Amino acid sequence: MTKRRAAILISGRGSNMAALIAAARAADYPAEIALVVANRPQAAGLAAARAAGIPTAVVDHAAFGQDREAFERALQGELDARGIDILCLAGFMRLLTTWFVTHWEGRMINIHPALLPAFKGLDTHARALAAGVKIHGATVHFVVPEMDSGPIILQAAIPVHEDDTAEALAARVLAVEHTIYPAALRLVAEGRARIVDGRCRIDGARADDHILLGPAIDA
Ligand code: GRF
Repeated sequence: MTKRRAAILISGRGSNMAALIAAARAADYPAEIALVVANRPQAAGLAAARAAGIPTAVVDHAAFGQDREAFERALQGELDARGIDILCLAGFMRLLTTWFVTHWEGRMINIHPALLPAFKGLDTHARALAAGVKIHGATVHFVVPEMDSGPIILQAAIPVHEDDTAEALAARVLAVEHTIYPAALRLVAEGRARIVDGRCRIDGARADDHILLGPAIDA
């Protein structure tokens, strides 16, 4: 099996990055994590990537001022140097230009801590609680120029608890993020996640009529 060469872009903690690195250690995983790039020199995930033996690079956006394209050309240089062909955004806190997103169309994925298209943007858990939703979750999607809007690859849902705090909800969502991100990268690397008419189709997906009740109640 020829493995696809994936890079992970991070800005901070890197727990999703760590989940991807761990999954990609399996011999039958269809992608290898060939590079981790941070746009902040102090990103905590860099140390974890190095400890795991993954090549790392820092492309500090602050060094490029307002020039987003110059930052992205430097980033692209790092990706080209490592022969990267799939990009995973994992807590990467920079908006990307249409030039960069178009270049990576169908090969760049992101994880978002909400059930898109609900709660795009930041502070998703507090906003989910404020809205009173009973089911919340996480989404992995292809990246398009519009933020948090690309074709959805995989989602996981969890019930919201009556007494939830944003922190408690975030921790439970993060746990499912760590499951679905490696699964979604697998689908993309295997070529099973295909974009058809602006939506993502998964080859070999089973029909499942399982019901998730939120909140759990004694009927
Ligand atoms: C995750 O909740 C992810 O969904 C969001 O940013 C957070 C990053 O966390 N995009 P980590 O750096 O992967 O721990």
